[in-house]
Amino acid sequence: MNELDALVDSARAAFAQATTPADLENAKAQYLGKAGRITELMKGMAALPVDEKKTRGAAINLAKQSIEALLTERRQALADAELQVQLKAEALDVTLPGRQRGQGGLHPVSLTLERIEAIFGSMGFEVAEGPEIESDWFNFTALNTPEDHPARSMHDTFYVEGGSEKAPNLLRTHTSPMQIRHAVQHVKRHRAALDAGQPMPEIRVIAPGRTYRVDSDATHSPMFHQCEGLWVGENVSFKDLKYVFTDFCRTFFESNDLVLRFRPSFFPFTEPSAEVDIQFQSGPLAGRWLEVAGSGQVHPNVVRNMGLDPEKYIGFAFGMGPDRLTMLRYGVNDLRLFFDGDVRFLAQFR
Ligand code: FA5
Ligand code: MG
Repeated sequence: MNELDALVDSARAAFAQATTPADLENAKAQYLGKAGRITELMKGMAALPVDEKKTRGAAINLAKQSIEALLTERRQALADAELQVQLKAEALDVTLPGRQRGQGGLHPVSLTLERIEAIFGSMGFEVAEGPEIESDWFNFTALNTPEDHPARSMHDTFYVEGGSEKAPNLLRTHTSPMQIRHAVQHVKRHRAALDAGQPMPEIRVIAPGRTYRVDSDATHSPMFHQCEGLWVGENVSFKDLKYVFTDFCRTFFESNDLVLRFRPSFFPFTEPSAEVDIQFQSGPLAGRWLEVAGSGQVHPNVVRNMGLDPEKYIGFAFGMGPDRLTMLRYGVNDLRLFFDGDVRFLAQFR
């Protein structure tokens, strides 16, 4: 093998050893660069006689072209390899199952609240909302609740910062403060008519929302929902309460096969007061009395705190537990399941 063939072979080997484009450019410099082997050989021709120069020059050029061809080939091979690596890294497995987009839905208690609003809406009740952080005045005092009433104790009520020592802030323990808040607004709106001795449009409102008590077991949650109802006018009686609530229950449970019982009870803000129990006449819950609400005729002191004359205005109020209604409607036996946030449980109600 002559010297030039050996040079081409050594270039082939050096290029093959280069595994990156940078390595390859270094190897190239050794053969084709300014101080490379080919340049060296060209320089070495200067001393040769003219006709030898010709054949020698042609042979060196041939070797140079061979090395350039090897370089191009190796460059292409390295570029191809790099492309393969990249393609492999970005490969899509089209046989993988698709990712599902989860279908959301309303919470079962939200479904109940929507139902309550629709049913009372059809009976001409407005829907009002109010704050969950309440003052002691709206939650207790304005509702005729005495200073030493047990519900005011720390054992039953979450007190929060803000307010004063005499009038602390708290998380509302029921939706009943909305009786006062809504009635006061209503009276304000109709002040002119009232002052002119004209009749005031009746107050007919429900107020659903979250309520809080220091309470936790299968049927009590520290956060739960209530829905207040209030109907006040010049001639609203307990009979209307019975009619409205019975109609509501039968529509809510889609059954005429249930009866109601108004069991005498006590609330500071109603007189007389009654717990409302329902009993299904058929189905899995048949035969048991189930408490669903507190109710009563609005106490004269409360009517006064609404800004109305209790000699002229009379009405009823109730406060029910939408969480309990949801348990009854769907046959759920532990209230806390609603608030654990387990989607496997919640998805059943979509
Ligand atoms: C009251 O809260 C009165 N404000 C109701 C009322 C309104 C009476 C207007 C008269 C006039 P009571 O504490 O009984 O009453 O609660 C009413 C309903 O809320 C109960 O029947 C029950 O369904 C629900 N409830 C009470 N505490 C909890 C709790 N910790 N978890 C879930 N539901 C509850
Ligand atoms: Mg009760």
